[in-house]
Amino acid sequence: MSSVTVIGTQWGDEGKGKVVDWLSERADIIVRFQGGHNAGHTLVIDGETYKLSLLPSGILRKNKLAVIASGVVIDPQALLKEIDELQERGVEISPDNLVIAENASLILPIHRYMDKRQEQVLRGGIGTTLRGIGPAYADRAARRALRVCDLADKSYLRTRLTSLLDHHAPLFSDSPDKPPSLQEMLTSLEESASRILPFAQPVWRLFEGRRHAQILFEGAQGVHLDLDHGTFPYVTSSRTVPAEAACSSGIATRRVGFVLGITKAYTTRVGLGPFPSEQDNEIGERLGKLGNEFGTVTNRKRRCGWFDAVLVRQSGIIAGIDGIALTKMDVLDSFAEIDICVGYLIDGERWTHLPPHPFLQARIEPIFETMPGWRASTRGARSWADLPAQAIKYVRRIEELIRQPVSLLSTSPEREDVIVVRDPFF
Ligand code: GDP
Ligand code: IMO
Ligand code: MG
Repeated sequence: MSSVTVIGTQWGDEGKGKVVDWLSERADIIVRFQGGHNAGHTLVIDGETYKLSLLPSGILRKNKLAVIASGVVIDPQALLKEIDELQERGVEISPDNLVIAENASLILPIHRYMDKRQEQVLRGGIGTTLRGIGPAYADRAARRALRVCDLADKSYLRTRLTSLLDHHAPLFSDSPDKPPSLQEMLTSLEESASRILPFAQPVWRLFEGRRHAQILFEGAQGVHLDLDHGTFPYVTSSRTVPAEAACSSGIATRRVGFVLGITKAYTTRVGLGPFPSEQDNEIGERLGKLGNEFGTVTNRKRRCGWFDAVLVRQSGIIAGIDGIALTKMDVLDSFAEIDICVGYLIDGERWTHLPPHPFLQARIEPIFETMPGWRASTRGARSWADLPAQAIKYVRRIEELIRQPVSLLSTSPEREDVIVVRDPFF
């Protein structure tokens, strides 16, 4: 038995989907453990592009069990749409290869409505994906949420939904646009129920009879979007750290196994919040253009900047990372010089970590170290021998600064373009 847990070490979009898809060849079970359809994971297989949001990236391989665990918030309509779109492209999805935690919480149209209202009116906004993620997790924590298993009983569903709406109604009494009605939501949930319930199972029981299974836990977002460890309040509403893989699945924490931190060779962020190494200039524009940095979910332009070693070293400690998968180094191929952020200055004092205080974050001046670029193509490389010497130096410097070894190097969006230094499923 061995397992690997994949998490993002920055602010999401590090290339987790590609790496999970690559690793899933060796896995028996692939478990998505948090977040919802705010995630967007792009996979390229033999020139064909697939965009996944809720389904584990392993769903595209045959004879694997894909699991959505209880820490994921599920929008039934979004899930069914994703299943339909993949099935139309010939991907097999049935209760034989997909299990959904019966105790997972649901995202309802009222959550999307609240997300939008909070972004527009109530708080000034943090740049969410408007998918209802925050309000759905809030209802879960307050024990108001509806869960997958509730779909099996119409009258229970009606009672729970009525009290959930009663709770929120005062918030919308003076709202210009009307919130979705009880009846609208019930009808839509009842329609989804017959298609979703066949997948519903107790996820914790799956592992009982599969002691030797290789499990791949797939995280969404990244450590700096974690509810506690991220740049609060500019974070998502779930825990993005590896321990959540165990909590969400109902499995012993030791089975989290090898923690692989997916790390982009530069930095991006979608939505608002601090970003010390941001390049709001032509360098950022160039990184965005070469890296095609547009959000998979919302198509928003991602903010771009240089690699921030402070940020990733911090993630390594918080998440107990065993090795990183470095992605998108090919995007830097044409740069004559490449900067790395190696520390922060706040009011003239040097900091080696990102403090949680928003008022200190606002005063950070990044300290950069400049390295010469390699100005040669690394795209599609599949062995160290194919990498220019200067590109290897860049990898080594990153390892030194973040104090983590590189286990994998991704060299293009294509599934097989990977250099293996140490296989996480050793
Ligand atoms: P995720 O949310 O972490 O799964 O990442 P996204 O899929 O949102 O964004 C990563 C983007 O980079 C996707 O379009 C991938 O196809 C692409 N990608 C992944 N690895 C590489 C790589 O090594 N090089 C390049 N050029 N693109 C990559
Ligand atoms: P993947 O899995 C990048 C960001 C949003 C916003 C904040 C809160 O593709 O890496 P939310 O809708 O979750 O309440 O938004 O979190 N965000 C992501 N940014 N990649 C993601 O997922 C993200 N999921 C949420 O942009 O700033
Ligand atoms: Mg993404």
